[in-house]
Amino acid sequence: MYLTQEEEDMSNGEYGETIRKSMDILIALGEIYEASSLVDISSAQVSGVSYKTIGDAGLEYLEDLASDKFECSNVNSTLNPAGTDLDNWETFGFPHDFSIKQNKIVDAYGKLGINTTCTCTPYLIGNVPKFKDHVAWSESSAVCYVNSVIGARTNREGGPSALAAAIIGKTPMYGYHLYENRIATLSFEVNTNLKPIDYGSLGYIVGKQIGSGIPYFKLKNNPSNNDLKTLSAALASSGAVALYHIEDITPEYENCEIEDKITISENDIIETKENLSTTDKDPDLVCLGCPHASLEEIKEIAYFVNGKTIKNELWVCTSINIKAASDRMGYTKMIEKAGGHILCDTCMVVAPIEDMGYERIGVNSAKAANYVPSMCGLDVIYNDLTELVKFV
Ligand code: F3S
Repeated sequence: MYLTQEEEDMSNGEYGETIRKSMDILIALGEIYEASSLVDISSAQVSGVSYKTIGDAGLEYLEDLASDKFECSNVNSTLNPAGTDLDNWETFGFPHDFSIKQNKIVDAYGKLGINTTCTCTPYLIGNVPKFKDHVAWSESSAVCYVNSVIGARTNREGGPSALAAAIIGKTPMYGYHLYENRIATLSFEVNTNLKPIDYGSLGYIVGKQIGSGIPYFKLKNNPSNNDLKTLSAALASSGAVALYHIEDITPEYENCEIEDKITISENDIIETKENLSTTDKDPDLVCLGCPHASLEEIKEIAYFVNGKTIKNELWVCTSINIKAASDRMGYTKMIEKAGGHILCDTCMVVAPIEDMGYERIGVNSAKAANYVPSMCGLDVIYNDLTELVKFV
């Protein structure tokens, strides 16, 4: 891989150890994937934040990296969800030791120059690249969204490579950064109108079939931005989809050379929705906001529970920024008066909910339905908000 003189100097340690280690990661990746060079990025999204997933080894690695003095790039960078609500972990009953270590992890990222807003929907809070920008994102649902809906260009980065890219401000030029690797060949034609939850089931079906391929969709109705967020998450979790195109909707939908087509029926959607639940019992915790809830989704929840008393526990997961807007709009009060809570920074998959006394988790996200049994070892109920939340 070609390196400029400045990049050579960075890799030789002339800019300090943190820069050298970060360059090592980028060069190793570039050589494995035969990148021609490094390319400047405008944005990074860094995963590997929850103490549940990176543990003590991850915390030590980050604190060591953050102990060196260096100059971080000016790239707009955000963090993925953490394992707790960072400010209110005691109120919500998160385990003490876990929470202390979680805050140390986020502090280390802050020292490394990363914006410590923890969310998987950075595109809702100002980390929004432009069409055709090169970026380095490492949350699979956000990767799928930024490639497909915004038309920026990223590979499915891992946490360390996204962090290295954020520090250096560059990423190796290969894979989805190249136009010729962004062409869809398999078309999925959906012959039924989709409700919001159905986009999760659709993504789950197609992700399973296509793996890491690029699907092309023909839909009967126009998806909202929330629907695209849901679809992106499901495609990226049941398969390894990083990019999709939707006819007449997404910016690069004309990048296709269709070789085959598959029809998705209403029955396929219904069957998938039923099969994702692991129990018929009611959930003891309903956890919404996967990917992290938008203000419109919080509004819908607030008006649904307004003036009633919720029987099961309700968490709505979002970023601290969207929560602030919800506070101002009065939605937070409506949800809290009904007995629910808005949690910032975390989610049902990366939080240690299995250690917090819950057994059955209600979700309206196919990605969460896919991961809660495997990552938390708990039963899951996948359904609409209106079916999951029970009232006294
Ligand atoms: Fe985000 Fe957690 Fe879902 S990271 S996409 S809310 S599993």
